[in-house]
Amino acid sequence: MIDKSERTVFTITAIVIMLFVFSLVYAKTTRKIDLPECLPYDKAYETPAVKQIDDSLYQVYAVARMWQFEPAQIYIPVGSTVDFFLTSKDVVHGFDIYEKNVNMMAVYGGINKTTVKFDKPGVYKITCHEYCGIGHQNMQSEVIVNYPDAK
Ligand code: CUA
Repeated sequence: MIDKSERTVFTITAIVIMLFVFSLVYAKTTRKIDLPECLPYDKAYETPAVKQIDDSLYQVYAVARMWQFEPAQIYIPVGSTVDFFLTSKDVVHGFDIYEKNVNMMAVYGGINKTTVKFDKPGVYKITCHEYCGIGHQNMQSEVIVNYPDAK
């Protein structure tokens, strides 16, 4: 026999879970927000890199460590889509791209991936938003989109 208050808790829990699942589906479909994914670990991601896949697609292997991101500057042409693959060499770091809907964690031994499209030229700061020690506030890098001295 289930107590009435227990049933209430079950009902509320079910509603909250349904809301959560709905918001994920809504973000993915209607809002077209690319949800971060976890990928199987591969040593290759520990080497910072910017790779051009085709005219408008790039892959960035971003490596966080105390207290910097590598690569520190990423140059891409306007209209590019970038797949970010993120890992950490030491503690947990944050990865927030200014004006973009990106909020990831860099975790040692793990790879997180997200995809971002850069439709407007500018300098997009990437900052660490997870306290990671004495140099935390200096942890930054940037995506430079169609900057005058871009290659
Ligand atoms: Cu890395 Cu804060």
